[in-house]
Amino acid sequence: MKTQMRNLISLLLLLLLGLQLSSVFSWKRDEFRNCNQTPFCKRARNRKPGFCTLEAQEVAISDGELTAKLLPKRNQENNPDQDEEQIKPLILSLSVYQEGIVRLKIDEDPKLDPPKKRFEVPDVILPEFLNTKIWLQRYSTETIGGDASPSSVVYLSDGYEAVLRHDPFEVYVREKGGNRVVSLNSHGLFDFEQLRAKKEGDDWEESFRGHTDTRPYGPQSISFDVSFYGADFVYGIPEHASSLALKPTRGPGIDYSEPYRLFNLDVFEYLHDSPFGLYGSIPLMFSHGKSGGGSGFFWLNAAEMQIDVLGSGWDADSDISLPSSQSRIDTFWMSEAGIVDTFFFVGPGPKDLLRQYTSVTGRPAMPQLFATAYHQCRWNYRDEEDVENVDSKFDEHDIPYDVLWLDIEHTDGKRYFTWDSVLFPHPEEMQRKLAAKGRHMVTIVDPHIKRDESFHLHKEATQKGYYVKDASGNDYDGWCWPGSSSYPDMLNREIRSWCSEKFSFENYVGSTPSLFIWNDMNEPSVFNGPEVTMPRDALHEGGVEHRELHNVYGYYFHMASSDGLVKRGDGKERPFVLSRAFFAGSQRHGAVWTGDNTADWDQLRVSVPMILTLGLSGISFAGADVGGFFGNPEPELLVRWYQLGAYYPFFRGHAHQDTKRREPWLFGERNTELIRDAIHMRYMLLPYYYTLFREANVTGVPVVRPLWMEFPSDEATFSNDEAFMVGSGLLVQGVYTERARHASVYLPGKQSWYDLRTGAVYKGGKTYKLDISEECIPAFLKAGTIIPRKDRFRRSSTQMTNDPYTLVVALNSSQEAEGELYVDDGKSFQFEQGAYIHRRFIFKDGKLTSINIPPTGPGKARFSSECMIERIILLGYSAKPKNALIEPSKRQAEIEYGPLLVKPTQGLAFATVRKPNIPITGDWTIKIL
Ligand SMILES: *[C@@H]1O[C@H](CO)[C@@H](O)[C@H](O)[C@H]1NC(C)=O
Ligand SMILES: *[C@@H]1O[C@H](CO)[C@@H](O)[C@H](O)[C@H]1NC(C)=O
Repeated sequence: MKTQMRNLISLLLLLLLGLQLSSVFSWKRDEFRNCNQTPFCKRARNRKPGFCTLEAQEVAISDGELTAKLLPKRNQENNPDQDEEQIKPLILSLSVYQEGIVRLKIDEDPKLDPPKKRFEVPDVILPEFLNTKIWLQRYSTETIGGDASPSSVVYLSDGYEAVLRHDPFEVYVREKGGNRVVSLNSHGLFDFEQLRAKKEGDDWEESFRGHTDTRPYGPQSISFDVSFYGADFVYGIPEHASSLALKPTRGPGIDYSEPYRLFNLDVFEYLHDSPFGLYGSIPLMFSHGKSGGGSGFFWLNAAEMQIDVLGSGWDADSDISLPSSQSRIDTFWMSEAGIVDTFFFVGPGPKDLLRQYTSVTGRPAMPQLFATAYHQCRWNYRDEEDVENVDSKFDEHDIPYDVLWLDIEHTDGKRYFTWDSVLFPHPEEMQRKLAAKGRHMVTIVDPHIKRDESFHLHKEATQKGYYVKDASGNDYDGWCWPGSSSYPDMLNREIRSWCSEKFSFENYVGSTPSLFIWNDMNEPSVFNGPEVTMPRDALHEGGVEHRELHNVYGYYFHMASSDGLVKRGDGKERPFVLSRAFFAGSQRHGAVWTGDNTADWDQLRVSVPMILTLGLSGISFAGADVGGFFGNPEPELLVRWYQLGAYYPFFRGHAHQDTKRREPWLFGERNTELIRDAIHMRYMLLPYYYTLFREANVTGVPVVRPLWMEFPSDEATFSNDEAFMVGSGLLVQGVYTERARHASVYLPGKQSWYDLRTGAVYKGGKTYKLDISEECIPAFLKAGTIIPRKDRFRRSSTQMTNDPYTLVVALNSSQEAEGELYVDDGKSFQFEQGAYIHRRFIFKDGKLTSINIPPTGPGKARFSSECMIERIILLGYSAKPKNALIEPSKRQAEIEYGPLLVKPTQGLAFATVRKPNIPITGDWTIKIL
């Protein structure tokens, strides 16, 4: 009896311990659905190749598009069960745009009065893109292979063609008459559940963990297969904490048993290697292969999506055969609702794909300069004294920073746009003090509104009927930070505009022009909702169900906030809004971060593929919380995180409320010095980063890139996601293990690389095992590159405006190099009218030349700068120069020999043109003598 009792007690203790451990460390798997618990996913995944019996009929050209009806194949024996009345065709339309972009839409026939119009996502596709539609006049027909019926072919551009195969129905893009590029329904897995009236006995309700989804419209899912030809890997479909190259999820020897899920969720303590859905969703996939080419596919659909990457051999028992001469990756896409609205991109290069995709959803916004510098955040800086203290400590320790952030505790009871009057009695004065040092502040604004009769926002939203409704038509009431909360219906333009107005200086009392915004919890997060979000049967404007637009809710909130900041400054200043939730096109509204990560080495490691994937999906301005949000990083991890984070496009330190304070100076002098060096490196490189942000703004090519984007035919780079390129000139390798003494670094290409700090040279095309110290992570300049720097350390980026530049000229074997510098006022929209300086630097034949890259637009605005170049460092110069001659002024400048970095001084001495004092604006040449 006694022992039994003791056993029982120890069992209970163990259980308790176990519970506690799991609540501290782990993702709550049971809170979220897997594919088997998601009926549309389970049904779709059980289908076999060849399932689809649709054929294309009545093919025609109409309104400049190729159109057809998709109908089940007529059964020759005239199946008596097949009631002609019951067969409802689907309407297909294929349209063609600039650069060979094909758009394929498939929806129910509106003329047959479906019970409801299916949701099409508005406000994501650029109107300018639609204007590039190429009006189709004709198509040709062709009988391909052993087909019994013809295919319809339309010409795209640059030698590509789109093919609609009639029977069995299939759509693909091919090189003219030849190799396929990307295809849909080649395996016959297409299925489209048409809406129908509820019949007796239909039970459409679904339950999950005590939440019932009424599903008044029944099953309405869509699924199909997409194949990428010439592909060795596929990439994209953020957001997952997973590798850059996507892993197979079905087939023999798979890595993940669940499909990649796209469903915006607030996931507590997410795992570092999982296909599970996180805060944002972009249904975009790119492929890449040895030939240096790839293709892309985008599905504009905001309902829950699940995507399988099919491992080779997944279709071993299928009778369908595809052209076998090309390597291929098959994928399978499933969505709970919406329509088929898909885009095919032909590439072939990775940068072409980015340009094509961002011509549809928009190029990344040009951020303000300050936003590209270092941000200091914590949940929470307690009060004004804390803010002042942290701010002054940065100065005391000679560490630059640009933005101080306030989390939810700064508000009056989690009512956004208000201040806690005890803790933050003088918000304007607080911001002005920061602004005096050139610094900014960011406060949080979440979409949930506290249901409090005395809160003016709640009162207004209730009276105007602005809230999302629950399934029975009442204002939806969910639990979030303020307790009982409601959520504005962001789908509605008028409501978005109402939200935007709340950011005006008049409405947001206590805000000043140096205050910017952060949107959290906009998935939306609902603590007591199914899977911590809003019920799928909640209702938006026009009877749109939440299930149909879930993944775009946060995008709209981000958009409204960003528009609000533009409006408040009379449209004169660029906004800055960071968002946790995102969708395709979020790059137009601001920055994104990878949400609530954890202070461990694996999460440091996965931040790189996560940020690279966001960049590949158009969202160039992205970062991960430096230090890890949950938990307390060991000083070594924190230092390594700063060393890596200093190269993220968005660079912010952040921490959970329950963690110990971790401002950079709290870990002893040595660690303070190391963190200072890391942050200094970012500030030195700000001119280079800003130039890259502009490149992203113009071309869609992200600031940080996978190695294969710069070395597309180098197979060794295809799955490398430990290292990344910053622009085309800088390679960074993270250090992801404790007490690492060595790092293995692959340096691609035929040219050499220079250590970013010492200038030591490495030949390209090799893997190096490098000795490393605590001082820095490996980073290299590509030979053939010129990089602009600003080497004087100030309190903030805005105080560096008039500082002179250093140019680092990293010569290649032919003693040549090239680079760019982009400069504008750092904050207004004047650059869109041509008010900027854009220079190209070319080093060739012993001469450095600066030439103007003239504005492309019609604008006549001008930007001028007094900035000079104070130093030109020549890496790899083959002779020992003595002098430099500046043309056209015919001045001479001295050559001295010095290190690559002023502080900390390390390594070799390089020929440096000292004080050439030439302006960054004019045309000039410097001849090295
Ligand atoms: C560049 O950024 C600006 C400011 O955010 C934006 O208005 C513009 O549309 C972007 N450029 C392009 C080519 O899209
Ligand atoms: C050296 O760099 C220049 C400029 O980037 C480039 O045009 C040239 O082809 C390169 N030479 C070699 C041998 O790689």
